[in-house]
Amino acid sequence: METNQNRVNFGSKIGAILAAAGSAVGLGNIWRFPYETGNHGGAAFILIYLLCIVVLGLPIMMAEFAIGRHSRANTAGAYKVLAPGTPWRGVGYMGVLAGFLILSYYSVVAGWTLEYTWQAVGNGFAGMNAEGYTQFFADFSANPWRSLLWMLVFMLMTHWVIIKGVKKGIEKSAKIMMPVLFILILVLAVCSVMLPGAGAGLEFLLKPDFSKVTPDVFLGAMGQAFFSLSLGLGCLSTYASYFGKDTNLSKTALSVGLIDTLVAITAGLIIFPAAFSVGVSPDAGPSFLFITLPNVFQMAFGSVPFLAYIFSVMFYVLLALAAFTSTISMHEVVTAFVHEDWKLSRTKAAWCVTIFCTLLGVFSALSFGVLADMKIFGLTFFDFLDTLTSKVMLPLGGMLISVFAGWYLDRRIVWEEISNNGSLKVPFFKLYIFILKFVAPIAIGFIFLNELGLW
Ligand code: TRP
Repeated sequence: METNQNRVNFGSKIGAILAAAGSAVGLGNIWRFPYETGNHGGAAFILIYLLCIVVLGLPIMMAEFAIGRHSRANTAGAYKVLAPGTPWRGVGYMGVLAGFLILSYYSVVAGWTLEYTWQAVGNGFAGMNAEGYTQFFADFSANPWRSLLWMLVFMLMTHWVIIKGVKKGIEKSAKIMMPVLFILILVLAVCSVMLPGAGAGLEFLLKPDFSKVTPDVFLGAMGQAFFSLSLGLGCLSTYASYFGKDTNLSKTALSVGLIDTLVAITAGLIIFPAAFSVGVSPDAGPSFLFITLPNVFQMAFGSVPFLAYIFSVMFYVLLALAAFTSTISMHEVVTAFVHEDWKLSRTKAAWCVTIFCTLLGVFSALSFGVLADMKIFGLTFFDFLDTLTSKVMLPLGGMLISVFAGWYLDRRIVWEEISNNGSLKVPFFKLYIFILKFVAPIAIGFIFLNELGLW
């Protein structure tokens, strides 16, 4: 196995933070967060989500960082290094599988962002109204060829960065793309909040109604927290295996968590005011972002068509780029595993992942059209994979990771990683271990039992 000293590293600390943030910030924030919030009744969901980020997300992220950097291996390899001969490597295998499954349906939505970029460049949305956008989305997503084509393009783009490697591919793209994305979503949020009738959207987003809180809301919020932070499947532990020795793990986790949360909330500030302003229902599901956004540009800049054009093109490009830094990270999890564990060359490993993921993705893509009636547990193939991964596999993975770091792993290893061998002060260390040992696993277990009605 390719471990230890001669393994590649990110070139800089800021590069490491941005790569991890690039993984975290993606469709999960801008596409999934708004529709999950919409499906689960708004502000109360967001509060529980924030709680999950702080209590579960940050501690587990630090644990993933520690596991990855200490073992300097892919996620399954990490458990073989840290717990040789034990069943713990199963956590790694489950993570690789989850990464593979998520990548397969995520790339479908990522493909949609390319279609929307394409339309925006050709000014194809000009002059449509709210019903027009809804119809456009329904027609496009049901069209087998277009969505398959774009998904394939997206997978090949991801493939291309992966074979370029960690430093030139992953780090460089994240460093350029992330800052531009932040600026643009801020501008759009300001525009959206100023739309006529935006108040109802803001209220939905900010005023909690606890009567809407059901066990589903808890599970949804927890799943969203894991999904959005790229947690639970060893993605960030794989990235941390490329971190330098002096990267401060707790600070990095805090930065990534903050950036990710800010982007999600700002995306909410863009989408909800606009949706309420034109009467798009917030529980529209996966289509929510795509039927609302064109309205934002139309209404915010409609009187100056040139601005509407520029802003929409830029936004869709950046949305695609945000998705891109995330697909890269998922692809990397699986590729690093196939490369190091099955001993294929990196390029061959990457091809395996690209080809099989695309094949599986076909079913998700078609589940908006010709396969819409193929149901598993009453869900379309796309929804089934999303539910299975984000609401079961990721939280379960997170629970096992926190048990592993809290109970199994030598306390000294955790301390060495969090304190960079004693060079950083970690006054919160005892509390941290307490959270890993008790708080996080019990909270996740409670949410599972609660959902199953066993509580
Ligand atoms: N967090 C990314 C997003 O919000 C998606 C993602 C990338 C992910 N890597 C992951 C989700 C690993 C779960 C696990 O779009």
